[in-house]
Parts: sequence; structure tokens; C-alpha cells
Amino acid sequence: MNMTYDWIGSPSDMKRDGAAILEMLDASVRDDGMLGYSTRLSREEADAFLAFWEWQLQNKAASILLARDEAGVCAMTFMRINQNRNYMHIADLSKGYITPRMRGTALLSNLLLKICEKAKTLNIELLTLDTRENSRAFKVWTHFGFKSHGVLQDYSRSGGRSHVGHFMNQRVEDLGKNCQKGEKLVLQNKSDFRAKLENTLHQEIAKNILYSLFS
Ligand SMILES: CC(C)(COP(=O)(O)OP(=O)(O)OC[C@H]1O[C@@H](n2cnc3c(N)ncnc32)[C@H](O)[C@@H]1OP(=O)(O)O)[C@@H](O)C(=O)NCCC(=O)NCCS
Repeated sequence: MNMTYDWIGSPSDMKRDGAAILEMLDASVRDDGMLGYSTRLSREEADAFLAFWEWQLQNKAASILLARDEAGVCAMTFMRINQNRNYMHIADLSKGYITPRMRGTALLSNLLLKICEKAKTLNIELLTLDTRENSRAFKVWTHFGFKSHGVLQDYSRSGGRSHVGHFMNQRVEDLGKNCQKGEKLVLQNKSDFRAKLENTLHQEIAKNILYSLFS
């Protein structure tokens, strides 16, 4: 499977990929509204969302990472780049989303490595993000080394409930190390994994047979 990673950096890119981004936002409704929407976006909300980010891109205040495979865009992360000179070492990550069929693969660590590479080119040293307490995302970000520097009791509201949220951060250098189990192969699913494992095992067995026959 070929996975490509693109950074969207201009309003025209956003015009091209906006529909795919909106599709992921709509799909994230099924993730308990983790990206900020508990129901699909209305036309007005979608237009306002795209206009806001086009403006950010136009002003070099953001960059958006998209991952694509044969089936299309399958993951995204938005990076807000601080424009104030004294805070330019910080970027904020949001709208992290991986399409369900690609979850649990190494795609996330590859995306995080791409974020580290991009941060380095922009002299960004610290990454921040925020998320709902005890969500899968909270556990995943903690697993990758993000630490909470602040807790907001009334962080978000969905399903008639108020949720606690954590504001987290990590140095780019440390994140790079935490993802640095090498740029991993992104496997489509478990059967893809099994096929590759069997193939490797068959090759190893064949090598051993040849070795014992001819040594
Ligand atoms: C959050 C999200 C991007 C994570 O991606 P994912 O593919 O599901 O993540 P994975 O299940 O592969 O987990 C990534 C790593 O975290 C670890 N992890 C997962 N769940 C964990 C848990 N409950 N506790 C500890 N570690 C955990 C995994 O072991 C894996 O580690 P590895 O790469 O070293 O093997 C994805 O689930 C998603 O798009 N969710 C919906 C939108 C969302 O919640 N976005 C976040 C908004 S803040």
C-alpha cells in the first residue's frame, strides 16, 4: 500500500481538499464528537470552517497534514503556527483524525514523525494540544509522551454532559524520540500483517533448508 503525506499550505489547496476534510469532520461525529461536532456540520458551519482555515493558511498561521492511500484522504492533523515573535517556538495541534479502517496501524506514529519534521523546518520546539480526559486520544497522546500542563473542568460539552479537558505539551525532540521506532510500515489490516509475516517466515524457512542442504 502506498501512503503519501502532504502539507496543505495555501487556500487553493484547501479548496481542493476541503471536501475530504469536511467528510472526516462529519465522520468524527461517530467518535463521540471528539473533533468538536456531535452532529454533522451544517452548510453554514462547513463554509465558516473552510473560510477560517483558508484565512489561516493565507496568513501562514497554519499548515494541515493529510495522509492519502489508494482510497483517498485517510488522516489529517492541523498545526497552528504562532505568529507572535515571542511564541514562535510553539505550535498547536488539533483536528487529529484517522479514518477507522486505518486505526491501530503505524499510521499515527508516522504522522507524528511528519509533524516533527515539519516543526523542525519551522524552528518550532514545543507542541501543544488539548483533549478530553480519559478519551482514547488522551491515552494515545499520553502514550506518546505528551504531559498535561492544565486541566479545565468545563472543557467541552456534548451529549448533554460537560467533559474535563487536558491541555498537554511535549518538546518536538522528545516526540521524535518517542515515535522513533523507525518509520514503520503502514499495514492495511491484520490480514495484510499476517500475509507479510507468513511471507517473511516462508523466506526464512526456505533459507534454512537451502543452508542445511548445501552447507
Ligand atoms: C486518536 C486517534 C488519532 C489515534 O489513532 P489510532 O490509530 O486509533 O491510535 P492507535 O490505536 O494506533 O494507538 C497509537 C498508540 O497508542 C497506544 N494506545 C492506544 N490506546 C491506548 C491506551 N488505551 N492506553 C495506552 N496506550 C494506548 C497504542 O498501543 C499505540 O502504540 P504503538 O504505536 O507504540 O503501538 C484515532 O483514534 C482517531 O482518529 N480518533 C477519532 C478522533 C479523535 O479522537 N481525535 C483526537 C482529538 S484530540
